[in-house]
Amino acid sequence: MGIWTKKSIAILQAEAGAEEGVHTLRRALGALNLTTLGIGAIIGAGIFVLTGTAAANYAGPAIVYSFILAGLGCLFAGLCYAEFAAMIPIAGSAYTYGYATLGELVAWIIGWDLILEYLFGAATVAVGWSGYFSAFMNELGFRIPVQFTGAPLDVVGTHNLVASNICFNQSTNEVISVAAGQACDLTKYSTVHGVVNLPAMILVGLVTTLLVIGIRESARFNNVIVLVKLAIVLLVIGFGFMYVNSDNWHPFVPVNTGTFGQYGWTGIVRGAAVIFFAYIGFDAVSTAAQEAKNPQRDMPIGILGSLAICTVLYILMALVMTGLTKYTNLNVPHPVFVAIAAAGPALAWLRPIINIGAIAGLASVVLVMLLAQPRIFFTMSRDGLLPPVFGKVHPKFRTPYITTILTGVVCALIAGAFPIALLGELVSIGTLLAFVIVSAGIIVLRRKSPEIPRPFRTPLVPLVPILAILICGYMMYSLPGDTWIRLIVWLLIGFLIYFMYGKSHSRIATNETSG
Ligand code: ALA
Repeated sequence: MGIWTKKSIAILQAEAGAEEGVHTLRRALGALNLTTLGIGAIIGAGIFVLTGTAAANYAGPAIVYSFILAGLGCLFAGLCYAEFAAMIPIAGSAYTYGYATLGELVAWIIGWDLILEYLFGAATVAVGWSGYFSAFMNELGFRIPVQFTGAPLDVVGTHNLVASNICFNQSTNEVISVAAGQACDLTKYSTVHGVVNLPAMILVGLVTTLLVIGIRESARFNNVIVLVKLAIVLLVIGFGFMYVNSDNWHPFVPVNTGTFGQYGWTGIVRGAAVIFFAYIGFDAVSTAAQEAKNPQRDMPIGILGSLAICTVLYILMALVMTGLTKYTNLNVPHPVFVAIAAAGPALAWLRPIINIGAIAGLASVVLVMLLAQPRIFFTMSRDGLLPPVFGKVHPKFRTPYITTILTGVVCALIAGAFPIALLGELVSIGTLLAFVIVSAGIIVLRRKSPEIPRPFRTPLVPLVPILAILICGYMMYSLPGDTWIRLIVWLLIGFLIYFMYGKSHSRIATNETSG
């Protein structure tokens, strides 16, 4: 018993079916809202920012294959999430599934790991949003001083914290950030030290306020922005295709340079690990399980529907972008814009709209991530692994307001202080780890408790979970060593907190000792 204690599915299902009241979350979401929540979390910095770098440096036009590969990994993991989310509709997502299958310690570690996905994920995308927002304001003539749009801190190697440099060209207003510890090219730029990333912090503050006010209000707001960003993505695909120059697709898979990961088939896999970030978020749907009206039916629809829609859109977007311009031109922070600009004056009207799409799109990712995180803390607190205050529900708004505010404050501090590259890889590795554990959990529970009713069944078990583990595991393997070290340090901190607090306060443990 102890650290391997499992929470029985019967108890979990009873908790999920508890009567609504002032201490429970409000069941307000249907299948459509859940699907838009998923799309809200998925389409963001990945497609608007990372696709270009990945195509230019690793895969060329074959980035399309990278999207298919990463999409398959997510589809297999998504099928596993769908089985769990319909069977155990509790707000804790992977944490709860871990508690039911692999025991308390593993559950705690997944919960702790999910902070990397959601809290750090929200901070990462808030930083990306700040970049697009500042550039947009600049074009409108409102210049936010650059030192208030950049991170003060960056990390060199595995642990050296240094001031981060922003390179600023005063005559063109161009702002670029350089890798940690590197200097600006002083013939073109002057060096500015970031003080704080103010737009990113303000966005997190506004989103947090909305999330405290209500799930229904947040979902409605999300629906509106998702509509805007979907419309813009469809415009880019539809009009972009008309101006594609198919010469840009030749060769579709550029020849490998001799180095692993630089074009060729290894480049496709490398590219998949980088753009995996673009898919993160469909699992966030499962954290809203306790607010779903009919989770048994609607959870699989929300998770798999949002993933399927985004996969198709991503593949088409990748085809259009690499078809409009040579992939080597896409190594910029705003590749969608650059691709459409290559179509010439005919699509000039679309350029400002793309910025609006990115600003709306990234804001909704932050919203859904900041919605997901407090719900996991909420569940962990109800289980006794976090202090009871984390489980408090606002009597009027019926939202987990204390954890929402706490998450928002920590997220704002991180977004204000750190640059995007450092955060992004940590988010990917943390999410992939959760996918691997959830997929393994499906195999375990099918063996141990085959009799439990499963409103949705992952097909072809154990093949599908094994493929999910292999593809996600391989993407983890191709992330840099530094990121692995940060993940391990993060998990060790988690162990420490569990043994100092969670183990002795766990509700299951205290029930056992009190008989
Ligand atoms: N998938 C989300 C994004 O690309 C995290 O911004």
